[in-house]
Amino acid sequence: MSRLNYADKIILAPMVRMGTLPLRLLALRYGADIVYTEEIVDKKMVRTKRVVNEILGTIDFIDEFDGSVVFRTCNEESSRVVFQVGTSDAKLALDVAKLVEKDVAGFDVNMGCPKEFSIKGGMGAALLKQPEKIKDILTNLVSNTSIPITCKIRLLPTIEETLSLANVIQNCGVAAVAVHGRTKEERPQHPNNNEAIKKIAENLKIPVIANGGSREIETYEHILRFHKTTGASSVMIARAAQYNSSVFRSTGKLSLDEVIPEYLKLCIEYDNVFTNTKYCVQMMLRDLQETPMGKRLLDSKIEEEIYQIWGLLDYYKEKREEFMKQSLKLQVTLPS
Ligand code: FNR
Repeated sequence: MSRLNYADKIILAPMVRMGTLPLRLLALRYGADIVYTEEIVDKKMVRTKRVVNEILGTIDFIDEFDGSVVFRTCNEESSRVVFQVGTSDAKLALDVAKLVEKDVAGFDVNMGCPKEFSIKGGMGAALLKQPEKIKDILTNLVSNTSIPITCKIRLLPTIEETLSLANVIQNCGVAAVAVHGRTKEERPQHPNNNEAIKKIAENLKIPVIANGGSREIETYEHILRFHKTTGASSVMIARAAQYNSSVFRSTGKLSLDEVIPEYLKLCIEYDNVFTNTKYCVQMMLRDLQETPMGKRLLDSKIEEEIYQIWGLLDYYKEKREEFMKQSLKLQVTLPS
């Protein structure tokens, strides 16, 4: 597999709960060049076991204690998927990278999450003020893995501090750095500091991936405008893709009436967990949750109910039958 190149790319951002396999595949099919997984915390990931799922054609990382799927991936994305870890520990981060390195194209460290859970654990944006720890984590990953290493940061209070941090990161040998143009105190409704991203892009040799533009992104053309305004090598989109992943289509966005069924088909094909499917569709519907269809979704208690709303119950049943037959066949053909 050729090494993932981060220059001149349009990227699906990491998004907790949203960025599971169905959304990543849909984003790729609509035109995203690279897709990031949701952030998965190191301690959770290291207790998983890698399992080849022959029924679904996926690689699953299963929690050894509760049997849940912590990370599911497949061939279609393997050369374009970047695994994002939440970490504050160089050894654990490397353990996770070694666990997934044969199944993903890149490995990213989240240094931007401002949530209390991350900060308390010394992860996410807590790392921004700890250059020594950053060096520790990133150089250990760069020296001991075969896939490109990146990280995703936020801005520090001044541009000088941010540039100095960006240089520390570059000197660790990473392949690229994603920059969300807000400080950890700023919220999504604050304007994104595109100027700061531009300065960082001008100062670094490695590709800078601009992020934080969704407030002004409704269409593919807006993605291109964000790319141009920031002067960054690449762009990374979160909320605009969360609402409607067909924003990645260069030929124009589709209506949610088309996008949601496509998304749900992937949920069926990859046996996505009901609660995750429901949450993601709710996030796509936003205000439409108030419509009769939205209310039916909110009331749904089992996956069949969701598929029925979008006319996919027969497809769901057909696929379940296929999985069942496949599973019986595999049991029969397994060597005794
Ligand atoms: C995020 N963000 C995020 N960032 C990250 O590094 N790892 C993560 O797991 C998440 N999770 C997450 C979930 C959801 C639902 C949202 C909306 C956002 C932040 C995200 O990647 C991005 O930095 C910001 O949303 C700004 O980019 P946009 O939305 O303006 O394109």
